[in-house]
Amino acid sequence: MKYIRLDCMLGEDFNVNLSKQKALRAFTDLNTEEPGKMTGWCNVNRIITAEEKDKIKTIAKEVREKSKVLIVIGIGGSYLGAKAAIDFLSDYYKKDGDFEVIFAGNSISEKYLSDTKKYIEDKDFYINVISKSGGTLEPAIAFRFFRELCEKKYGADAKNRIIATTSKDHGALKKIADEEGYRTLVIPDNVGGRYSVLTACGLFPIACAGFDIEKMLAGAIETKEELVKNTFDENLAFKYASIRQQLYMRGKDIEVYSTFNPNMRFFLEWMKQLFGESECKNQTGIFPASLVLSADLHSMGQLMQDGKRNVFETFINAEKENIKDKVVLKKDEKNYDNLNYTLDFTITEINKIARQATEKAHESGKVPVIDITFDKQNEETLGALFYFFEFSCAISAYMQGVNPFDQPGVEQYKKNIKELLNK
Ligand code: PA5
Repeated sequence: MKYIRLDCMLGEDFNVNLSKQKALRAFTDLNTEEPGKMTGWCNVNRIITAEEKDKIKTIAKEVREKSKVLIVIGIGGSYLGAKAAIDFLSDYYKKDGDFEVIFAGNSISEKYLSDTKKYIEDKDFYINVISKSGGTLEPAIAFRFFRELCEKKYGADAKNRIIATTSKDHGALKKIADEEGYRTLVIPDNVGGRYSVLTACGLFPIACAGFDIEKMLAGAIETKEELVKNTFDENLAFKYASIRQQLYMRGKDIEVYSTFNPNMRFFLEWMKQLFGESECKNQTGIFPASLVLSADLHSMGQLMQDGKRNVFETFINAEKENIKDKVVLKKDEKNYDNLNYTLDFTITEINKIARQATEKAHESGKVPVIDITFDKQNEETLGALFYFFEFSCAISAYMQGVNPFDQPGVEQYKKNIKELLNK
């Protein structure tokens, strides 16, 4: 594929072709039209109109010109995609005065709200409140809190500083937006939260952070075209889904996503939601976990090497990071730290060698290893990765015999909270 490569170490007796028919049936299931089916994300080339894209870009430009902070309020699918993307594309640190996107409404922490209030107090800000249903408790609490701050600070202009991303024509948030005169962006009815990063839900905060959403969509569209036309042998999503499902049948019911790129921590959080919520139902499914390496080798390395053998590991890594100034270690004649032997390698090369060494070690410890790599951390690749994993996840869930697009299990706790609060 243009953006993504997949290799694996699965043992000699592993034959991915055994799942070919099942994967092809899953593809047919995905494409079978049914009323209300949540597959709007599949047609990424049509997911968003040219008009909506222009609206996103125009408002994003205004937000960057008129403020220093965008507070994005949302949770789950209305949060993780944008957070994953912005971390993936950004530098680790901001300079004083740089525009930034911060997140709220993804917990019920009073301290978080209070500290965020302090942080934005003397800064100009906009709010992007995101909720498809419009009724989720965590973002609703945060929105009420920050809306009041916004109104206090900006008076009549507050309504121009609040952008609501929600359903086209229903839900409490849509109602508030219409009544108060907030501008709105749309999450299409046929796209569920965890598949919504390439709609206004993810694209608006990403555009506000200064990234090129056209390039992201282009990467996703190219990937879609490859995935729908490639045969099983060339189709990396079919392969990835097949490997996962075969490993699951062999008792590997935990998948650990591992990265040596620390700025992909939230990309892995997004993956965990995507796969966990899509696949783990009817008392079945692969539990998704994540590790950020090499840090977690010093805490979870023992478990990966030598713990219960019900785990497989999917490494997801960029071959090159976006480095502004190269880091070069100099030869030190005294060599107190015995590091001179590494100096033939760049730090990036050492990181890659650490990855290869870890994959080899875990494989020798009987952990099946899947290795997904891409060249660069840029917008096109990110769009490609989002689409690739959404597609793989849907195929894998259909192979497992579950509906990738519902989440009946997340309703129970919400119901309990409401009942307890009503008492
Ligand atoms: O993927 C999902 O459907 C969930 O994670 C939702 O995105 C999350 O619960 C937030 O829902 P809403 O956007 O309706 O507030």
